[in-house]
Amino acid sequence: MNDAVGAGEREFDFRPADFERIRGLLHQNIGISLSAVKTELVYSRVSRRLRVTGHANFASYLEALAVGSAEWEQFVNALTTNLTSFFREPHHFVRLAQLLPSLPRPVTIWCTASSTGEEPYSLAITAAEAFDSLSPPVRILASDVDTNVLGTARAGVYELEAAQAMGRQRLERFFLRGKGRQQGRVRVRSELQRLVEFRQINLLDPDWQIKAPLAAIFCRNVMIYFDRDTQHRLLSRFVPLLHPEGRLFLGHSETIRAGSLPFDNEGQTIFALARAAGRAA
Ligand SMILES: C[S@@+](CC[C@H](N)C(=O)[O-])C[C@H]1O[C@@H](n2cnc3c(N)ncnc32)[C@H](O)[C@@H]1O
Repeated sequence: MNDAVGAGEREFDFRPADFERIRGLLHQNIGISLSAVKTELVYSRVSRRLRVTGHANFASYLEALAVGSAEWEQFVNALTTNLTSFFREPHHFVRLAQLLPSLPRPVTIWCTASSTGEEPYSLAITAAEAFDSLSPPVRILASDVDTNVLGTARAGVYELEAAQAMGRQRLERFFLRGKGRQQGRVRVRSELQRLVEFRQINLLDPDWQIKAPLAAIFCRNVMIYFDRDTQHRLLSRFVPLLHPEGRLFLGHSETIRAGSLPFDNEGQTIFALARAAGRAA
C-alpha cells in the first residue's frame, strides 16, 4: 500500500499518520473511538475543513489545529454522527410517561446527547401529555458536544415529513405549520421550547455543572462511540446525579455490565439505581 491513503485519487494528501493523529485527538478529547474503516468518512468530512481554512494537506491542518480553538469546534462538529428522530425507541417515552407523575417535582431530565433536538422535544411532548398541560412541572436540560446540532435544536424547525411519523394529533397540538418559504416545515410550539434548555456539554468534561437530583438521564446512542473504560467512567458519574427513584435510559445497543455499577436493569435498556445506592425497598 502506498504511504498516503488512496494517494493519487485525493484532492489532499492524507497519510496514515494523519488518520492516527485525528483518531488520537478525538479519543482523548471527545471519547469517540474511530476504527480504521472510518478512514474514508474522516477524509471526506475533514477535507471540507481544509477547503474552508485553506490548508494544502492534512499534516498542515492538523499542525495548526489547537484543542479548544474556534477551528477545533468545527473539526469536532464535522466528525460527530448525529442520527436521531422523534420518539426514537418509543418504549422509553411510554415508560417515562408512567413514571412522571410519581417523580419529585420539579422533574429534571438530562438529555445528554440531544443532537438536533428531536429527542428532547419528544421528552417535552411526553411531559405535556403526562400532565395534560403545555407547562408541565418538568425541566429538560438538553446537551451535546456539537454546536451545529445545538443550533438546529434551538431553532426547533423540522421537515414536516420527519415530524409526521409521530402522528397527526401530536403534530397539530405541539407544532406550528410553516407558510410561504417555510412550507413543508414545522416549528415546535414556543411553550414546549420553554421547557428545554440547550447547552454545550462534552461528556468527557471533568465538571458538567449539572445540579442533582435528576429524575431521568437519557444517554442514548452516544456510548456506542466510546470504548469500555470511557463508558464505565461516564456511567459511574451518573450515579450521584440520579434521584433515588430516577431512571437511566440507554440506547438499544448499549448496556451496563451486570454487577459493574450500582444499577438494576429493568429491561428495555432502562436502569434504576440499585437499592443499596439509595432507592427505597
Ligand atoms: C447518534 S446521535 C444520538 C442522538 C440521540 N441521543 C438519539 O438517540 O437519537 C449521537 C450524538 O452524540 C453526540 N456526542 C458525541 N460525543 C459526545 C460527547 N463527548 N459529549 C456529548 N455529546 C457527544 C454527537 O454530537 C451526536 O449528536
